[in-house]
Parts: sequence; C-alpha cells; structure tokens
Amino acid sequence: MRGVVHEHPAGPAGVRLAMVADPEPGPHMVRVRLRAAGLNHRDLLQLTGQPGRPTPVLGSDGAGVVDAVGEGVRRVAVGDAVVINPSLGWETTSASPPPSFQILGVPRPGTLAEWIVVPEANVEPKPPHLSWEEAGVLGLAGLTAWRALFTKGELQAGQTVLIPGIGGGVATIALLFAKAAGAKVAVTSRDPEKRARALALGADVALDTDSDWLAQIEEPVDLVVESIGEATWERSLLVIRAGGRLITFGAHTGSRVLIDLRDIYRRQLTVMGTTMGSAEEFRAMLAFVNRHQLRPAIDRVFRLEEAAQAFRRLEQAAQFGKVGLLVPA
Ligand SMILES: NC(=O)c1ccc[n+]([C@@H]2O[C@H](COP(=O)([O-])OP(=O)(O)OC[C@H]3O[C@@H](n4cnc5c(N)ncnc54)[C@H](OP(=O)(O)O)[C@@H]3O)[C@@H](O)[C@H]2O)c1
Repeated sequence: MRGVVHEHPAGPAGVRLAMVADPEPGPHMVRVRLRAAGLNHRDLLQLTGQPGRPTPVLGSDGAGVVDAVGEGVRRVAVGDAVVINPSLGWETTSASPPPSFQILGVPRPGTLAEWIVVPEANVEPKPPHLSWEEAGVLGLAGLTAWRALFTKGELQAGQTVLIPGIGGGVATIALLFAKAAGAKVAVTSRDPEKRARALALGADVALDTDSDWLAQIEEPVDLVVESIGEATWERSLLVIRAGGRLITFGAHTGSRVLIDLRDIYRRQLTVMGTTMGSAEEFRAMLAFVNRHQLRPAIDRVFRLEEAAQAFRRLEQAAQFGKVGLLVPA
C-alpha cells in the first residue's frame, strides 16, 4: 500500500509517499481502509530527517471503513464507517494516562496511508453528519480540546474561556466546543484575517496575540486553554480571574516560561496539564459533536501525494483550522 513517510532532509522537503507493507489485523485488531486523514503539530515534530532510515507511516488522525477484522473482534464489523481514536491504551478517564498510553503514529505506523490496523477499542462510529474530511481531522484535536475544556477545565455555560493562537487545529475545535457548551469565548491570533474568521465562527472577542490583552478584555476570564507556551504564557496567567484556571497542553513557541509565583498564589489560580484523553472521553466528545451537529473548521484538504505541501502549510502556521489529506477510494 501507499503511505506517507519522512526520510531526508529534515522538514517537509523530506516527506514522501512510499510503498509499505499491507497491514494485517491480528487478534482484537481491525483494519481500516482510510478515506481521510488529518495533520497535527505532532506530525511536524517527526520530520527530523534520518538519511537511509525512513520513519514508519506518519499521522494520528483518520477516518474510513473497516475492511477486515482479527480474531475475537466484537465491537466492530466489516463495512462500519469509523473515526480513529489516536489515544492507545487509555480506556477509562483518569487524572493522568496509565503506563500503557501511547499516541497513534510514529513510532508505530500511522494514518497517512491507504490502510491502518488499530485495536478494536480505538475505533468509534463516524458521526453521520460529518464528511470524510471532517471526520478524518477530528480525532487528536477534538479529544485534546474536550479534556482540556471540560474534564480538566470544568468549563460551565456562562463562563468565559480564552484560547490563544486561534489558527491552530486544537484551538479552532476548542472554540466550537466552548460555544456549543454556552461559554463566552475570547481568542487571540497574530493574523487579522484569522481573528475575523474566529469571530465569524462565534468567538465573542478576538485580540491581537501580540498586544496587551489585560488592557482590552472587559473582565478577567474563568479559564485559559494554553498551548502556545513562551510567547503567551505570562499574559495568559494575567487575564485569569481570582480562583480561575489555566490548562496547558502545549509549548508551541518554547517550554521555558517565567512565572511570578505571586500571580498564582495571590489570586489562588489552578494551573493544570493535560494530554489527549481516554476512550471514554473520546466517546463523550463524539456524542457532543453529534448532539450539536458540530463540524471542525477545515483549512485545506490535500491529496495523499501532496502531503509535503500539507506539512509546509502547517509549518508556516498559515492554516485556520485543520489541514486534511484525502485518501483516494
Ligand atoms: N498535549 C497534547 O495532548 C497535545 C495535543 C495537541 C496539540 N498539542 C500541542 O498544542 C499546540 C497546538 O497544536 P495544534 O496541532 O493545534 O497546532 P497548529 O495547528 O500548528 O497551531 C498552532 C497555532 O499556534 C499559533 N502560533 C504559532 N506560532 C506562534 C507564535 N510565534 N506566537 C504566537 N502564536 C503562535 C498559531 O496561531 P495564529 O496563527 O492564530 O497566531 C498557530 O495556528 C502544539 O504545540 C502541539 O504540540 C498538544
């Protein structure tokens, strides 16, 4: 089968479509004929460039049709349209992942391919209202946004959440989820066009990332979901109300931040980390998407053979929302 791998040089220029072995499902595994896949920032981090040592197939997000099942598979049947949960080995919701937790994609073969084999526990029915592209980009970002906002962030209707860097895949989905839950949403972006698009998607306030946020917001926010890191961390802490919360799940611009501890203890803030989520949370996220008929914002969809271009778009942070890959039927 064909799959997207990376070899050399480092970065998107080393991304190529290769012939790789057809996967066969073992016991309790299912094979999915992928119809669409999605890119995440994590995939960019795999493009380190090892001459003569191609990576396994890249990618964590995908949706398609089950076309073979291994021995003992009970939950799924051939012909089912499914979306893949990229969180492996984490079934029930817990404060942190169990030792068995792994993210689908490198080091094991990922979703940017014609077929993938995954545990039966990692496929769920595709929300019927979503196109293949929409279902294919939802998994990793949807799960991360869900746990950050609701499990860890305990966001309630009527509260305000701030989402820095709204062009990002997780950020745009977090905006949709928070609005559907009845929250007020403030966002930031460096790009005026992305700020306008966020307002059109329902954001209540859109600030320039490179400005003084505190001077512009009407009142401090209940929750910040922070993935930008160094570039925004200090301002993210400053805009939170006394007793409010910051959930961090990324360090996009660097992970070494300065903290004035008084910002935390005087206002008694809660600062918490999160990563991905459990199968239980994935199902809750899909149920919410179905209930509210939500559709992830898609920036652009490329063909599988155009994967290098798709990676370049992500590397340049040109996207608003998710970048997808269509896998020919
Ligand atoms: N822990 C987890 O489970 C988990 C899961 C998913 C993602 N993540 C992490 O979360 C982050 C976001 O992931 P993603 O896939 O949504 O990424 P993405 O689609 O690549 O988006 C990143 C966004 O960051 C903003 N940004 C980039 N450079 C910036 C800079 N110099 N200053 C300010 N803002 C900047 C941009 O927003 P604007 O263009 O609007 O300014 C960009 O759209 C990544 O660091 C990723 O590794 C972690």
